[in-house]
Amino acid sequence: MKGNLVLCGFMGCGKTTVGKRTAKLLGLPFVDLDEYIEKKAGMKITEIFEQFGEEEFRKMETQAVREIAKTGGMVVACGGGTVLYPQNVKAFHENGSVIVLLYVPLVLLQERLKNDTHRPLLQKPNRQQVIANLYKKRISHYRKAADITLRSTSTAASAARRLAELYQKMFDKKEENQAEKT
Ligand code: S3P
Repeated sequence: MKGNLVLCGFMGCGKTTVGKRTAKLLGLPFVDLDEYIEKKAGMKITEIFEQFGEEEFRKMETQAVREIAKTGGMVVACGGGTVLYPQNVKAFHENGSVIVLLYVPLVLLQERLKNDTHRPLLQKPNRQQVIANLYKKRISHYRKAADITLRSTSTAASAARRLAELYQKMFDKKEENQAEKT
């Protein structure tokens, strides 16, 4: 079974937009982790944070990762915090998934997120500083979790094309290696 193509990276880096387009190009199903959690809980992410807090949200997220990691052959967009938790990275890698970091520089993210109204971690005063602090804390974790980093500073369409090519190369290679072993 092929693993999943898993997109990680900071809020606003385009995981969902690029993921959807990549899935379309490859003819694969697309799953957005946040949407999956929302459907399961029957609540929006903002409501989950408000009513139960971040810790509870992270438990739901890990459960969702476990469920999704059981199925391969999909394009999965993580939330911005998903791969900061080693158990989530482990679950993805155990089913042969490839994790790709969509790298977008801090200034561009700050620009994209300046008017955001639905991300609970950003609804605070001094947003640009909040983003910068979180980014600095997280970037090394993203790099560590990712098998591949894709710089994504132009359009979602171009990132998706490059990702689709990468996917084909990576998974073809894996299948070749597998065939050599058997
Ligand atoms: C989070 C990012 C969000 C969502 C939740 C927490 C984070 O996903 O999972 O608000 O910790 O960065 P997006 O990156 O899709 O906004």
